[in-house]
Amino acid sequence: MTNEHNTHAHCSLVVLISGSGSNLQAIIDATRNGRIPARIAAVISNQAEAYGLQRAQQAGIETRVLDNKNHPTREAYDHELQQLVDGFKPDLVILAGFMRILTPGFVEHYQGRMLNIHPSLLPRHRGLHTHRSALEAGDTEHGASVHFVTAELDSGPVVLQVAVPVNATDTENGLAARVLEQEHRIYPMVIDWFVRGRLKVEQDKIMLDNKTLAGPCRFDTKTGKALCP
Ligand code: GAR
Repeated sequence: MTNEHNTHAHCSLVVLISGSGSNLQAIIDATRNGRIPARIAAVISNQAEAYGLQRAQQAGIETRVLDNKNHPTREAYDHELQQLVDGFKPDLVILAGFMRILTPGFVEHYQGRMLNIHPSLLPRHRGLHTHRSALEAGDTEHGASVHFVTAELDSGPVVLQVAVPVNATDTENGLAARVLEQEHRIYPMVIDWFVRGRLKVEQDKIMLDNKTLAGPCRFDTKTGKALCP
């Protein structure tokens, strides 16, 4: 992928989902209003009933379902998924609530061009039920992280994080909703950086505007700006 292609207004995105697709919606909106100069070539779900598929269809975006069932192994599923994704020739693959563990071969194929959003301040609370874990751990802040995907689950280099204060009276659902609201702000921002050729990853080092980041950027919820170390 050349830089020229990467910054092209018709940079192509493929979004993988499993559920509601509210992050997908934030990305659709940002491509629609011109904030992200790219087009979503397809939305692919492993769940036929994912509401995000309807969001995509309403926006006139192609959708595909690749069911978990009928695949003898994880490798077989991921091989077929890769064929499907590659058919759309994406510059960037976006995991937006895609609730599957990916095989190393799949991850390697999209090295440096696949992003994920995870609902915690990584490296805290990898895996599932992150909001419950944050409450049980007595964390005073929780949040979300956008990271490049590497073979180890929820462990790739983090680009941008947002912190959300935890209140004494918080419930799992209430906290999840406040985090999700911020996810919708940080994910389009990182995708925009990538699409414009500002963001790259080289050997686990993140480069933003040709500078190597010393750690993840932090999103300031008041100003809507990212502060990068
Ligand atoms: C989001 O909270 C996302 O961070 C999380 O799933 C939710 C999807 O919501 N992803 C993970 O937990 C991945 N490990 P959405 O479908 O409304 O965007």
